[in-house]
Amino acid sequence: MKHLPAPPDREGFDQSSENAAVQGTLLSNYSNPLIREARERQDEILRSRFQGQRLAIADLGCGDGYHGSIFAPAGGTFHGYEMAPDLAALTRERWQREGLANAVLKVGNLAAAEPPGGFYDVVWCLYFTPGNFRDRFADLDQYTDDYLDANPVFIDIVGHFWRALKPTGVMLLTVYKDVPEAEAAQLDFYRNTGQHPITSPGSRFVATREGFWSARWTRESLLSNLAGAGISASRVTFNELNEIAWLVEIAAGSVTEMGIDTRS
Ligand SMILES: C[S@@+](CC[C@H](N)C(=O)[O-])C[C@H]1O[C@@H](n2cnc3c(N)ncnc32)[C@H](O)[C@@H]1O
Repeated sequence: MKHLPAPPDREGFDQSSENAAVQGTLLSNYSNPLIREARERQDEILRSRFQGQRLAIADLGCGDGYHGSIFAPAGGTFHGYEMAPDLAALTRERWQREGLANAVLKVGNLAAAEPPGGFYDVVWCLYFTPGNFRDRFADLDQYTDDYLDANPVFIDIVGHFWRALKPTGVMLLTVYKDVPEAEAAQLDFYRNTGQHPITSPGSRFVATREGFWSARWTRESLLSNLAGAGISASRVTFNELNEIAWLVEIAAGSVTEMGIDTRS
């Protein structure tokens, strides 16, 4: 297993507190109805398109390894990237128990990952994980609109994995829409899984006292971040999951108006 070095975080940031909060939301029996519905629809789409096919898949922020159990049995290669040590341990145990020798766990922060170029058929980042990528600022005011429209950590991670796709590959990102219903669902979910939101209503992200942070997106903010990663809007499709969520699909192939592959 490859261990990735952690990038520098702000001094004093307690990553273990955020990891525990994430684990609490993932493993809790409580689930907000709209968030659960979005997740179920996300998984239905993934199953119908990819289950049973031998593919090289990267799962960014694989949590407890749930998706590896569904997609690795077909063969191919399944790489789960995860930074929270306890969740990584659950993934490792799960995949060992299930005999999934082709499912490989890569423990560490995605910001330090060096994925192989042109390797994956599918790169996915599910269940609102793209909204967790950011610098660790002590002062929440540093997450300005300008920052959120060109988030360097998101751009870096997505850019690296975009270049790790085969020319025929696809990237899938599950994200919250920036609508009041999504913010209400986030607040409900975090409060019912032991966290304490500290952001003012209407912020474009929710942060909690426990160190968790999760952004919501408009089409414009997502496209401007993707542009920062070298991805043009013509490649991007916003698939509706429900009123609070999109499954954003990005095609690596030659889909530009000119018929020219401009992938950088
Ligand atoms: C919302 S959970 C989703 C877990 C899983 N994909 C699922 O659908 O059940 C987000 C996961 O991404 C991980 N994660 C978030 N940011 C990360 C980063 N920068 N590097 C590696 N893992 C990260 C978290 O530790 C957590 O396990």
